[in-house]
Amino acid sequence: MPYSNVDIIDDGQALSLDGTRFHAVWLRDNALDPDTRSSGNGQRLITLSDIPQDIGIAKAELSGDALDVTFSPEQKVVSYPVGWLEAHAYDQKDNKEPGWLSDEIETWDSVLETAVPVADFSQAKQDREILGTWLRAVKRYGFAKLSGGPVESGSLLEVAKLFGFVRETNYGPWFEVRTEVNPTNLAYTGLGLQAHTDNPYRDPVPTLQILYCLENSAEGGESQVVDAFKAAEKLRDTNADGFRLLSSYCARFEYGGMGDTLLSSRRPMIELAPDGELIGVRFNNRSAAPIVDVPYDEMAAYYAAYRQFAEIIDDPDMAVSFKLEPGESFIVDNTRVLHARKGYSGEGSRWLQGCYADKDGLYSTLSVIERDMKVAAQ
Ligand code: FE2
Repeated sequence: MPYSNVDIIDDGQALSLDGTRFHAVWLRDNALDPDTRSSGNGQRLITLSDIPQDIGIAKAELSGDALDVTFSPEQKVVSYPVGWLEAHAYDQKDNKEPGWLSDEIETWDSVLETAVPVADFSQAKQDREILGTWLRAVKRYGFAKLSGGPVESGSLLEVAKLFGFVRETNYGPWFEVRTEVNPTNLAYTGLGLQAHTDNPYRDPVPTLQILYCLENSAEGGESQVVDAFKAAEKLRDTNADGFRLLSSYCARFEYGGMGDTLLSSRRPMIELAPDGELIGVRFNNRSAAPIVDVPYDEMAAYYAAYRQFAEIIDDPDMAVSFKLEPGESFIVDNTRVLHARKGYSGEGSRWLQGCYADKDGLYSTLSVIERDMKVAAQ
């Protein structure tokens, strides 16, 4: 049992479980009884205004694996599993440095090239455990390959269906990536492309991208991926002020390359949550708009940091390279992992299809698989 002693503290405003404190209002708001939480869908049935402003703890006692709390003035008794309290404890959290990452994320560089996470398409489709392992890799590394898929136009939609839904945009449900005359976007030419995240001019950005190969006999045209979270960590560790500048001022991004579309966004290149967690990177030289939100006195240092960040991203030691074969695809977390393409010649052909999807669906599918596996193991 995680706790052995309970004390009411702060004049009944809180309790302490072996030194881990919980406020009365927090406990009451998170009560697990069926009058507070629907036993059907788990949703909260009360609002904060249903909780008395002078809520306090009249009595608290541990009995077995439960903590029973009597709230005043309601005299309502609520029982909490101690394991639940331990899992949701908020007291004594460490102060983390800006750019901290969740334990579920592992940053990487070119070393990952020898251990690229990959699954077979048919196996992932038929076997939930294999699918779960593949989705967990996407969550952990922000990138994974899928091999052995059908060599048919539109097959990338089947990849999205493994875990969620396509996000349709002005480019359609999917877009073609091959040499075109009069391209509407530089992605559709044979030029090499610097590592970038897609569509930073949208808010919210598509949080996943799938690129699916149908033909790839052209010279060159390898795909590359770079972990921008790793690049941000490197910037922070060598130039903390540069990291501050790129994470505290907004850049701007725009796209108006099609007649009926004018997209724009205003967001930092390195995005942190209010508590400093690194949650996203937007990096795309093609769609960067004039930066107007950095004060004059900081602009030179901002540009120096931007240049340094780009140099880190362009460093070959950061990139994982691979050439997709027809029927192979890869998925990236478009808020984290940059993708690039080496230039390719007109000899042979290169035909990829790309589409967007979102992480909420992928994480939901992963959570359901993990929950079901846990239940099955019990
Ligand atoms: Fe792209």
